[in-house]
Amino acid sequence: MDTKKSNSDTTGVLFVCLGNICRSPLAEGVFQHLVEEAGVSDEFEIDSAGTGSWHVGERPDTRAIAVAGAHGITLPSRARQVTPEDLDHFDYVIAMDLENVRNLEKMAESSRTDVQIHLLREFDSEHTGDEVPDPYYGGASGFEKVFKIVSQSCEALLAGLLT
Ligand code: 4NP
Repeated sequence: MDTKKSNSDTTGVLFVCLGNICRSPLAEGVFQHLVEEAGVSDEFEIDSAGTGSWHVGERPDTRAIAVAGAHGITLPSRARQVTPEDLDHFDYVIAMDLENVRNLEKMAESSRTDVQIHLLREFDSEHTGDEVPDPYYGGASGFEKVFKIVSQSCEALLAGLLT
């Protein structure tokens, strides 16, 4: 867990979900917020992407923007699709669910990168190894639940990267 590829001074963290409009933009926004609170923004390059291309160019889902805003967090991302170059560039690629992991591993295999791919909830001490549920087809409460999951996992992820 300790190589640095994004450039010599920063640790690159890319959050990945399916559409890049719900879960991974939330994770990106929350992680960025935590990094700023900790005063270590200069040490990180943070981004998000989706394995799918349906929403490329779109802002995050309005329900994701709303739940983040309620917690004082803005979501600046525009959806984009993950590329083989991302797997070369970022130190940590953090996936929301196991389907994301499988798709990323397939991409890494064909581009022969040595990237480290992790499930976000590997860092969730209460539910280690669970997936972040996809809230897209549900209501606002699903987004609040995802926000909580993402927040506690990102806190643990950052703590691990800073030790
Ligand atoms: P995300 O959620 O992967 O958390 O961004 C989804 C967004 C869109 C779709 C599925 C999941 N979709 O099928 O369009």
